Amino acid sequence: MNNRRLFLEYLAQTSPFPLQIEIEKAQGCILYGAKGEEYIDLISGISVSNVGHCHPKVVKAVQDQAAKYMHLMVYGEIVQGPQVKLAEKIAQLLPPSLRNIYFVNSGSEAIEGALKLSKRYSSRSEIISFENAYHGSTTGALSIIGSEKFKNGFRPLAPMTRQIRFNNISDLQLITTATAAVFIEPIQGEAGVILPENNYLQLLRKKCNECGTLLVFDEVQSGFGRSGKMFAFEHYGVLPDILVCAKGMGGGMPIGAFISSKEIMSCLMESPILGHITTFGGHPVSCAASIACIEVIEEERLLEDIADKEQLFRKLLQHPKIIAVRGKGLLLAVEFATREFNFSVNHQCLQLGVFVDWFLFNDQSLRIAPPLTISASEIQSACEKILQAIKNAEVLAL
Ligand SMILES: Cc1ncc(COP(=O)(O)O)c(C=O)c1O
Repeated sequence: MNNRRLFLEYLAQTSPFPLQIEIEKAQGCILYGAKGEEYIDLISGISVSNVGHCHPKVVKAVQDQAAKYMHLMVYGEIVQGPQVKLAEKIAQLLPPSLRNIYFVNSGSEAIEGALKLSKRYSSRSEIISFENAYHGSTTGALSIIGSEKFKNGFRPLAPMTRQIRFNNISDLQLITTATAAVFIEPIQGEAGVILPENNYLQLLRKKCNECGTLLVFDEVQSGFGRSGKMFAFEHYGVLPDILVCAKGMGGGMPIGAFISSKEIMSCLMESPILGHITTFGGHPVSCAASIACIEVIEEERLLEDIADKEQLFRKLLQHPKIIAVRGKGLLLAVEFATREFNFSVNHQCLQLGVFVDWFLFNDQSLRIAPPLTISASEIQSACEKILQAIKNAEVLAL
């Protein structure tokens, strides 16, 4: 059987129409197909490959660490160089109230940890999150996402969760002294890249302070440079009590974290001890990759020209069929009138060699989230292809 047949036969399928593109190699912003095709990657494996695919520094860090040791022991017992050095490095990027780090393997797991931590620390049960929010697919994370469609098939989910409207100030009154935590993406990703408006995050912070409610920022998608700052919250001058990250953190390797103060985090140490357990969380190879990834962002000064790259996309992506280009930095949504037209543009983009996607809860918008290393000429070439794809989709729609 060829690989495509093996894929369909032996891999659990979750979609009736998987892309089924076979990739042999990936380097920088380019994916190389099995038949010699080339795709400009405009989605970074959904905001993961922020420093580009197979960055030599990340590859070397992975190879070196794999040759020293891989898994030694479950989380939290043995002092492992890559883990503690990564924790120190991340702590240096964050304010003093966010310098205690629990490493896990993914975004969903980090959300699970943050859910447990907020309930345990506050001794409260209610969790508030947002309509069209995405926080992951495990049962706890699923319970707080903002899509009934995705939740309905799996009920009953975690009790005492409710979703309020993003950017809606009057809904803030639903946060009360019974609320353990509010989970929010400071920039909503799967909703189609929705930015907070009118000091919304400041007002939310104020309300949480009044109610003694923990504020949790889910920066799984927006973190590690994607928005043009290391963390998106830096644009808004509001600090969370707990910060959740993953995706772009590992330079392509799986790793996530929930981060808080020592005071809040220490409640996982008692009643019961071992309040959160993971076998692989903070895997030394992933930690080594993550250190290299942060060093690449710093050494190559990747954050300095993200705003220019955003502007270049905005300048080039002009077409009557484009209703809006939304977002910040290199987390952008290009909106069309219908999902059908967007799907057609997506399909045409793939034919022309640009890898794009849509959003889970906004399927009329095309996702643009390339590696932060993308060059001006790659942006130029990708945008020309997107405009051509729009023209092709228009002809097909006639
Ligand atoms: C904002 C946000 N939170 C959490 C997750 C879940 O992360 P993972 O797929 O690594 O479990 C995602 C994944 O897309 C996400 O975008």
